[in-house]
Amino acid sequence: MSEFWVTAPHGPLPSRQKIRFFPVHEGKKFIVTGAAGGVGSALVALLVAEGATVAALDLREDALSATVAKYEGKVVGIGCDLGQQQSVETAFQQSTAQLGFIDGVVNNAALVRRGDAINASWDDWQSTMAVNVYGAFELARLAARSMAENGRRGAIVNVASEAGKKGHTQSITYGASKAALISMTRILAASFAPYDINVNCVCPGGIGTDMLRAAAANYARVSGGDVDDIFPRLVSSQLKRHITPDEVARTISFLLSDDALIIRGQAVNTDGGDTPY
Ligand SMILES: NC(=O)c1ccc[n+]([C@@H]2O[C@H](COP(=O)([O-])OP(=O)(O)OC[C@H]3O[C@@H](n4cnc5c(N)ncnc54)[C@H](O)[C@@H]3O)[C@@H](O)[C@H]2O)c1
Repeated sequence: MSEFWVTAPHGPLPSRQKIRFFPVHEGKKFIVTGAAGGVGSALVALLVAEGATVAALDLREDALSATVAKYEGKVVGIGCDLGQQQSVETAFQQSTAQLGFIDGVVNNAALVRRGDAINASWDDWQSTMAVNVYGAFELARLAARSMAENGRRGAIVNVASEAGKKGHTQSITYGASKAALISMTRILAASFAPYDINVNCVCPGGIGTDMLRAAAANYARVSGGDVDDIFPRLVSSQLKRHITPDEVARTISFLLSDDALIIRGQAVNTDGGDTPY
């Protein structure tokens, strides 16, 4: 509890029903980055099923077309390079132009550069931090400014990683960028609370997506192993299987909802129990 507040940090809370008879995100508008990827496409599908309309952002704009066609009228696809400030700003403007007021943002896209502490280059640092941290911040900032100007509640969820807590020696820039995202989440939660904006992040473990397969391929390269042996072993020690994109999407969807208002600035582990803090 802070002793410095002189006014309530947010307006009256919404009334809640114990049993829900309507989709949780009915009428809401969200931006999801990395929407063409594993977690992103699962999240778009879930948010649409829960009544939302989604601006799906990705570097690979062409890879969004199937999702846009599948959810015609509920999803707009927007090309965006999160590593470029102007591209983020343009994508946010396009999102509001097409959807109207944005109720929430999910910073899900990420860049992974392989490189250990001996080999990681300056460019690895710049490109990884630009996409995973600066781009995420810029989108969060633009959305929060719009929410504050409109006097409307909002939510922001960042997708970090267990690598942001434990680190991976084979990809120092990725782990450090996710640690920065966790820290930024805490700061943004405190900064945006007066505007009624809730900010959290999730820290997934091994999700069975292209990104994890690429990590397995890298382990295979450095160890001389076989990617098809390594990929199935990158699993939660308790679940003994890959986490699915939909499972992570469900936690994100919850954190976007008013049911999560008392969870603030947290880094929620969605890793099947591997990270104890
Ligand atoms: N897969 C895992 O095991 C795992 C584990 C922990 C955390 N995560 C995190 O989950 C999130 C989703 O990962 P995923 O497994 O779905 O990966 P993915 O590779 O399937 O999807 C990532 C998406 O981000 C997009 N992207 C990359 N650079 C971009 C840029 N500059 N601008 C816009 N879009 C860009 C890619 O085009 C891709 O569609 C990421 O933040 C990732 O770090 C994944």
